[in-house]
Amino acid sequence: MDLRGWDERHRAQPGAGEECVTPLLAQTLSDGRVRDLVPGRALDLACGAGRNALWLASHGWQGTAVDGSSVAIDILKGRNPSIDARVADLETHEYVIQPDSWDLIAMLYYLQRDLFEPAKRGVVPGGIVIATAHIPEPADPRMTPFRLAPGELAGYFKDFEILHRYEGPSHDPAHQRWVAEIIARRPLEPPAARLTRERSPRP
Ligand SMILES: C[S@@+](CC[C@H](N)C(=O)[O-])C[C@H]1O[C@@H](n2cnc3c(N)ncnc32)[C@H](O)[C@@H]1O
Repeated sequence: MDLRGWDERHRAQPGAGEECVTPLLAQTLSDGRVRDLVPGRALDLACGAGRNALWLASHGWQGTAVDGSSVAIDILKGRNPSIDARVADLETHEYVIQPDSWDLIAMLYYLQRDLFEPAKRGVVPGGIVIATAHIPEPADPRMTPFRLAPGELAGYFKDFEILHRYEGPSHDPAHQRWVAEIIARRPLEPPAARLTRERSPRP
C-alpha cells in the first residue's frame, strides 16, 4: 500500500491509543527481562497513530515517532502534542537514523529490510531493537514482499545479543496473522575489540 493508501486507512480507522500498546513492547519494558534498561531515548519507526509511542511517552521514555502518513501523525499529535512526531517516508530514507543515538528503536508491524542495519547502528551500545513483522502461516503459506521468511528476522541480528525470538501466532490483539518477533541488544563493545583484548597477554 502506498502512503496515500495509508492516509486513507488511518483516516477511516484512527486506531487506538496507548491502552492498545503492542503487548511485547509493554511487557519487555515492564517486567525487567532486559537487565539495566531504564527509560531513555526511544525511536518508533512507522509509528502509525501512535499506540506504542504514546505508551512509551507515558512510561518515561523521550520519544521520537516517525510515519509516512501525515494523517497518522496528526492523530498522534492530537493525542499527545509533546511527542516529537514526524512525517517522513522511510523507504526513501527521508528520516535519517543518527548512529549511536537511541536506547530503544521499535519497528513494529512494519517490514522494510534495508532499515534493519541503520536501526542497529542507531542504538547505543547496550541499547535494544525490538521488531515484529508478519510471516507465512499454515492457513496462508504464501511468501510476499511484506512477509519475512521463517528465520529471516533473527538473521539480521546475528551480531547482537538475542534477548527474545519468536515466530508463531500473534499475541497482539491488533494483529491476527502470524508474526516474527525479535528483541536484540547491541553488544557493549564490538566482538572484534573484545576478542583482541581477550587474546592479548596479561601484563
Ligand atoms: C501496520 S501499521 C503499524 C503501525 C504501528 N507500528 C503499530 O504497531 O501500530 C504500518 C505503518 O507503516 C506506515 N508506513 C507505510 N509505509 C511507510 C513508509 N514508506 N514510510 C513511513 N511509514 C510508512 C503506515 O502509515 C502505517 O502507520
